[in-house]
Amino acid sequence: MKIAIINGPNLNLLGVREKEVYGSVSFEDYFVTLKELFPTIDLHYYQSNIEGEIVTALQEYGFTADGIVLNPAAYTHTSIAIGDAVAAITSPVIEVHISNIFSREEFRKHSFVSASSKAVVTGMGLKGYEAAVRFLIDKAAK
Ligand code: DQA
Repeated sequence: MKIAIINGPNLNLLGVREKEVYGSVSFEDYFVTLKELFPTIDLHYYQSNIEGEIVTALQEYGFTADGIVLNPAAYTHTSIAIGDAVAAITSPVIEVHISNIFSREEFRKHSFVSASSKAVVTGMGLKGYEAAVRFLIDKAAK
């Protein structure tokens, strides 16, 4: 089973950036933990700070992966292009946010991605990625 994790802008700074909001672990370190948790899953990780590159990654994984875990970061709230890409692909997408986007500023409450996502996980910290992967595995098994 192939699952791709796609992270958007500034998530390359996890562990350094606003630790009180996003925690003190880098995604690279967390990805090692995830691979240990799911040793039989073909897990891929891609991060970009560039909107079009995220669209391209969604198109590349979106017809072959069994699932995509997507944190579009700030593009969640601005990007029709990423929302359209999620609608266009056939792999199920789980939208993940580390922080609870509903308990923060007003502009974070709207997502261009949620309507085409299978599920949304928000506010569970990095554990949200694990929950999303687990959901995709369980769903595929049914
Ligand atoms: C985020 C929430 C977004 O509002 C923010 O722009 C991010 C990260 C999260 O994971 O909590 O960069 O997607």
